[in-house]
Amino acid sequence: MTGLQVYRRILSYAIKYWGYLVLAVSGMVLYALTDPAFAALMKPLLDGSFVERDPQVIAWAPIWLIGLVILKGTGGFLSAYYMAYVGRLAVKQVRREMFDQLLHSPVSYFDRSSSGQLISKLTYNVEQIADASTQGLTTLIRDTLTLIGLLGWMFYLNWIMTLAFLLITPIIIGFVFYITKTFRSASKGIQESVGDISHVAEEMIEAQRVVKIFGGEANEGRRFEVANERNRRMMMRWVAAKASSSPFIQLILGIALAGIVYLATVESIVEQVTVGTFVSFMIAMVMLLTPARNLTNLNSLLQRGIAAGQSIFELLDSVREPDQGTRACESCTGKIEFHDVHFRYTGNRSDVLKEISFLVRPGETVALVGRSGSGKSTLINLLPRFYDPLKGGILLDGVDIREYGLKNLRQQMTYVGQDVVLFNDTIANNIAYGQQEKVTPERILEVARAAHATEFIDRLPEGLNTLIGENGVLLSGGQRQRLAIARALLKDVPILVLDEATSSLDTEAERGIQDALERLVENRTTLVIAHRLSTVEAADRILVMDGGRIAERGNHAELMAQEGIYAMLYRLQLRDPEASGPVDANPVGAIKQNLRTLV
Ligand SMILES: Nc1ncnc2c1ncn2[C@@H]1O[C@H](COP(=O)(O)OP(=O)(O)OP(=O)(O)O)[C@@H](O)[C@H]1O
Ligand SMILES: [Mg+2]
Repeated sequence: MTGLQVYRRILSYAIKYWGYLVLAVSGMVLYALTDPAFAALMKPLLDGSFVERDPQVIAWAPIWLIGLVILKGTGGFLSAYYMAYVGRLAVKQVRREMFDQLLHSPVSYFDRSSSGQLISKLTYNVEQIADASTQGLTTLIRDTLTLIGLLGWMFYLNWIMTLAFLLITPIIIGFVFYITKTFRSASKGIQESVGDISHVAEEMIEAQRVVKIFGGEANEGRRFEVANERNRRMMMRWVAAKASSSPFIQLILGIALAGIVYLATVESIVEQVTVGTFVSFMIAMVMLLTPARNLTNLNSLLQRGIAAGQSIFELLDSVREPDQGTRACESCTGKIEFHDVHFRYTGNRSDVLKEISFLVRPGETVALVGRSGSGKSTLINLLPRFYDPLKGGILLDGVDIREYGLKNLRQQMTYVGQDVVLFNDTIANNIAYGQQEKVTPERILEVARAAHATEFIDRLPEGLNTLIGENGVLLSGGQRQRLAIARALLKDVPILVLDEATSSLDTEAERGIQDALERLVENRTTLVIAHRLSTVEAADRILVMDGGRIAERGNHAELMAQEGIYAMLYRLQLRDPEASGPVDANPVGAIKQNLRTLV
């Protein structure tokens, strides 16, 4: 996108509020008229009061001056207030669009982006756009008008002197073109470095326990220093360009001024120039400096806005989650079929899933087991369309899941994952997340009890209304997991996906909620990745994943009889029940074994 296109798009956000813009612009016009008027007033004032001693002029001059100042103030207020008004509305709108875009961005977008960069776009870059569109527009209109008004007056006073003065404009324009590139690249650098700073800071804050235990302070400090220093350097580059551009232009103007003074003393011109004319001309010229300076700074402002606009529109124009489906799965039975599904993450060189085909009948429980990294979680992620298969198809109730509306599809399933995500809200709102309006407190209590969460909730100072901190830091791992199970219980839907849902629970707690889980599984199509053999053994079917393929399939007895991977892993685990290990999904068992051989 070119700078002009970006700027036009930025302005399109402001144009919508044209009523306020009209107010602001009329303020600018008023303001812009007062400067030339002031210069123009000088001529009769000086010629009248000092030269001709006209009593009329002497009486009215102060009143005219005060009137002009009041007009200028009013114009200044109108333009500043209403431009800001429009600017803030535009900022709000851009932020809302960005947030909405993020809400609907595919999972793969987040895999590739740094959250620090995204957040700084949302906070910092948007402000740059606001400056560019409001301050920029103000300067563009107000200072251009002032400039034109002043030049017009100068022409009227003496066109020869004015033309001589205008000789310098090509130099100024050339200089502005020259410095534009520096401005834009420095602005881009500043914005990226602000993103880096928040990225590093965010990671450090989130990982502070790991940082402390592993002594990563120096390392994090260094990483931060790099981002911080880059920000300083980019900022200085920008400041250098800005700071040098004003004096340079002032210098040129100063030379021009000197030339004019000289010119004014040349005989042929001097004859037509009265004291009032000369002073008025000089004042107009001095007054030109401010709008001229603003207009040169405008360039830096615009370049900053354009750089920010480019990064923001890049986000706004990125693809959303594909959601072309129109069908709704009504009274969904939860029959799931995978047909020769292949999948690969963007940027990966080989397929993570290969030739995956299987069927889960309504109400059945299918367990996925296999080594860490064999693709179990990936497979499960295809069901809510976090990612789409490269090849092959997934059917729900006999219809390709891409034909359903995304929202409808996701409504059919509930999920308890490897890492529990909680919001900085009350326990009740976390359990009822996404359906707060439809759920009664009694029902929340009921599911909390079923998930054996009331045991600890009752001990909390405010029970269900206790705030649990960012991502539930105030809870233990097992407590968090029980909340996630309660959340899944509450969303009463035909498909249940459990990705190591009970991995953080001790045996006792797990046994406690076993019946809750069994009730959860009952009558629901369930896909489960489980550590513990108890769940796996009871499954209707077990799929053993190996290197992205389904290596073995069958129920527990059949697989044991096959004497393949499953039987081997099962025996391994029996020998070492302490490694509550999964069928090697959790490498702890294997690691312990290795340690033993080492010692
Ligand atoms: N977002 C991602 N982008 C690229 N590659 C990924 C991504 N997520 C996982 N992978 C890769 O895909 C493979 C399968 O990962 P997956 O999470 O499905 O394994 P898993 O069987 O669930 O393992 P575990 O039992 O440890 O949870 C791994 O090799 C992993 O490196
Ligand atoms: Mg996994």
